[in-house]
Amino acid sequence: KNKEYQPLYDVLNDAIEFSSYELLSIDGKPYYEYLTKRGIHEDIMKKFSIGFNPKENRLYEFLKAKKHKDEDMVSANVVRISQQGMQDVFFNRITIPIHDGFGNPVGFTARVIDDSSDAKYINTAETPIYIKGNLLFNYHRAKDSAKKQGKIYVVEGAMDVIAFAKAEIDNVVATLGTACTGEQIKLLKSLNSTVCIFYDGDRAGQDATYKVGKLAVERGLSVEIVKNDHNLDPDEIIEAHGKEELREVSKKTISWIDFLFDFLMKKFNLNNYSEKKEYAKIIGEEISRLSDQFEKDSYYNQLRQVSGFDLSQGQSDAQIPDRQSQ
Ligand code: CTP
Ligand code: MN
Ligand code: MN
Ligand code: MN
Ligand code: MN
Repeated sequence: KNKEYQPLYDVLNDAIEFSSYELLSIDGKPYYEYLTKRGIHEDIMKKFSIGFNPKENRLYEFLKAKKHKDEDMVSANVVRISQQGMQDVFFNRITIPIHDGFGNPVGFTARVIDDSSDAKYINTAETPIYIKGNLLFNYHRAKDSAKKQGKIYVVEGAMDVIAFAKAEIDNVVATLGTACTGEQIKLLKSLNSTVCIFYDGDRAGQDATYKVGKLAVERGLSVEIVKNDHNLDPDEIIEAHGKEELREVSKKTISWIDFLFDFLMKKFNLNNYSEKKEYAKIIGEEISRLSDQFEKDSYYNQLRQVSGFDLSQGQSDAQIPDRQSQ
């Protein structure tokens, strides 16, 4: 932990304290009720230090009264300098703190409660202590439990992590969106655990699953995919079907290669020769990374049955039979 950033951590800690308190105030009532409607009660509010920021620079005034310097508030991106003077960055939103791997608060993700107005979420902009691509939401709470269980779930949103918490599952982190960087993969790798990707069931979520899975596998991680047959995200699953169903769905993982067979089947037209060849090449390359010879053989076999290409002897272009020799 870098001592020079202590004033920023202090600002954020006080901001969290303020917002948690405001959530329970009269002004916070609609926000509190919004959370309640989403099945988020005081135990979970506390666990995640969920809060609410009112408008009119109340946070700024609070932090000033606590003797924080303007420059530290600006540097932590809690307050910004506008033409009207200092201005709170997050207001009229639910705030959820984001921490680094050591549990220091580094920023917020903040949600509106009516989906009609504004961006649904805004997050802290890049600061000296908040570099989005170097962080995973909930990592500091998830790491021990992940190491113990040998498994870490990766979801899109903070609300998905919270849904898991409701189902008493702790080994879960969120990328806060569908992008995942090499640095985030490194964080996952240090957990020595199987990565179980559980992104949203929509197209964006599934496309991102492919990207993130590929990156993780390339960096030597063991990857599984949660087979999400609901077209829902983890939070929506718990909302629609309850805790038990979320726990059940989380257990239904498929291997990375099985995911590829399925996912790429929808991306390539296997009635077209060159598309089929591309399909086989991509999957063949992923199979070649496996270390277990038995798994390898059986997947090459499966690939041959699906595509007609036998890539078990290697996968350079020369070894893929061309159309004439088929
Ligand atoms: N996101 C964002 N800005 C948006 C929409 C999404 O930063 N306007 C990020 C958020 O971190 C969000 C994640 O992308 O959690 C996934 O987006 P989405 O699935 O739309 O949000 P949910 O996590 O499902 O949030 P909620 O359940 O509150 O609608
Ligand atoms: Mn989504
Ligand atoms: Mn979602
Ligand atoms: Mn959604
Ligand atoms: Mn959601």
